Amino acid sequence: MKKNIKRALDKTPLITIVIDIDRNVTYYNNFAKQKFLFLEEGRDINTVIRSTDLNIFINKAFSEKKDFKVEFQPSNFEDWYFIADLVFFHENDGSDSELTMMLTDQTMLYSYEKMRTDFVANVSHELRTPLSSIVGYIETIKNDINLDKTTTHKFLDIMEDQAWRMTRLVEDLLLLSKYETEDKPLQFKEVEIVKVVQSAIDNLNKKIEDKNLKVILDDHYNKKIISLNSDSMIQVFINIIDNAIKYCQEGSNINVALKEAMVDDNIYVQVKIEDQGEGISSEHLGRLTERFYRIDKNRSRDLGGTGLGLSIVKHIINRHNGKLTIESELEKGSTFSVYLPALN
Ligand SMILES: Nc1ncnc2c1ncn2[C@@H]1O[C@H](COP(=O)(O)OP(=O)(O)OP(=O)(O)O)[C@@H](O)[C@H]1O
Ligand SMILES: [Mg+2]
Repeated sequence: MKKNIKRALDKTPLITIVIDIDRNVTYYNNFAKQKFLFLEEGRDINTVIRSTDLNIFINKAFSEKKDFKVEFQPSNFEDWYFIADLVFFHENDGSDSELTMMLTDQTMLYSYEKMRTDFVANVSHELRTPLSSIVGYIETIKNDINLDKTTTHKFLDIMEDQAWRMTRLVEDLLLLSKYETEDKPLQFKEVEIVKVVQSAIDNLNKKIEDKNLKVILDDHYNKKIISLNSDSMIQVFINIIDNAIKYCQEGSNINVALKEAMVDDNIYVQVKIEDQGEGISSEHLGRLTERFYRIDKNRSRDLGGTGLGLSIVKHIINRHNGKLTIESELEKGSTFSVYLPALN
């Protein structure tokens, strides 16, 4: 390869690899080496990047002596996604023995796009299930003229339930998008944190009574004041305590404690919500705040859940520069801790 081409390729901000007709690497730049650590001169390109699509186009380029563009996902790095420009820099003597591959890393764009399509698929699925149940019952009521009043009522109750389910899902999606998009600042006010927690508990009183639970609130602080957005923070505690209620046994206790905690040399207010429920096994812990993530989809759906609660929690806490930790032991219970920056 000519020196001036090599110098240009050294500087190009694209992952650049040159191969000869035997598919062996003859040159690579720094960006290429950073991405593909195994790159070495003389190595068969197929042992570095495995992709049938890329291979087909390399073969085409060499046989047709033409430039090509190809999108591919290497099978040895499944999360990565590239667009490759396969280019011949024609030498003076007319020989086209070397093919230059310039790769644009599309991984971020691709994963963003995948997240978006997954999200749309999830939302559609969550809406379609209650919707088809409602449509089914409407048809039954319309077609069966002999349907007695009690059965009709039973069907209407189910339809009402399903309609509420859809309403909740839409409300949660609106909340999520409100807290996810950061263009509108949240209004912060100085308030007693214990009052915020207490309003969340009051909001859930009926569910607490129905399951015969006891919520024990322990305020070590005695009315500590911090700066927060009340409405959204009440939502955080409603979502976490609602889970504690849903996923614990009848008649058990839920302990809520407020105290000071140091994290990385900073003072935080810790609100700890501890249930004596079924617990969560460790492989799920890191994923609970993903949208629509539920350990047992059917069970959570039966309990009215859509799997958006904790992702809303995460976004609101982030908007407060706070942190969320989850600890759990199977059959013993789970502890969710919300850390919020304390006022100096
Ligand atoms: N305290 C808890 N004990 C056991 N499992 C829990 C607890 N909190 C959350 N989980 C698990 O985490 C999953 C995600 O919780 P999340 O609140 O995001 O969704 P959800 O409760 O299923 O639905 P919703 O959107 O109505 O809150 C739940 O489906 C459940 O499997
Ligand atoms: Mg929930």
